[in-house]
Amino acid sequence: MNGRQVFSLAAALIVLACGLVTVAEQFPDAPGPDGIRKGGTLFEEQSAPPLADPVNAQGKRVRAYPEQPPTIPHTIRDYQIDKNVNRCLECHNRIQTGVSGAPMISITHFMDRDFQVLADVAPRRYFCLQCHVPQTNAQPPVGNSFKDVDILLRNRKQQSAQ
Ligand code: HEC
Ligand code: HEC
Repeated sequence: MNGRQVFSLAAALIVLACGLVTVAEQFPDAPGPDGIRKGGTLFEEQSAPPLADPVNAQGKRVRAYPEQPPTIPHTIRDYQIDKNVNRCLECHNRIQTGVSGAPMISITHFMDRDFQVLADVAPRRYFCLQCHVPQTNAQPPVGNSFKDVDILLRNRKQQSAQ
């Protein structure tokens, strides 16, 4: 692109921006695209919905597939995790589990990337929330048709039996 083309492009962008401002003034109620957050107008800034409430599970949640990091069944609001403190490990570390009654972090959490088992939690497993997430009562904005592999296998068995 030579200097002249850059200049025309910049000029075109300025004209476009001014045009959008004029459109906004003329049609303040133009409906916005119905994205994940529905309703509202093109030029309106909606306030964010309130934070969803965390869910405390009764008992264990089934994992969707064997390698899934189990979801966190309890609230973790205000739990501090940084270089000095790890609130999760105050209950889930091997030595704490007798007192806390929490399940111990599994053996994979002690392995470094060469699968050497260390004495304590491996650095790559230190920040628990990279993999484990709590659940809330929020309604999912997009549907989900995930089927458990056990159900798929059962369906296939039934089909081949027919
Ligand atoms: C006060 C103690 C305590 C703290 C702190 C705590 N947990 Fe827990 N956690 C438990 C107990 C007890 C359970 C067993 C289920 C239950 O009773 O809710 C559990 C269950 C879990 C499970 C489910 C395990 C499974 O097999 O289904 C995960 C995952 C988990 N916690 C992750 C975390 C993470 C991540 C943090 C930090 C953000 C954390 N926990 C902090 C006590 C604790
Ligand atoms: C890199 C991802 C990752 C990180 C980081 C991680 N986990 Fe896990 N966690 C997993 C996976 C995957 C599983 C299930 C398979 C397994 O045990 O490795 C699991 C399993 C667990 C379980 C269930 C153990 C059992 O025997 O049923 C607990 C409790 C748990 N993690 C707690 C924690 C805590 C506390 C931390 C932070 C100190 C943490 N995890 C960090 C991926 C992770």
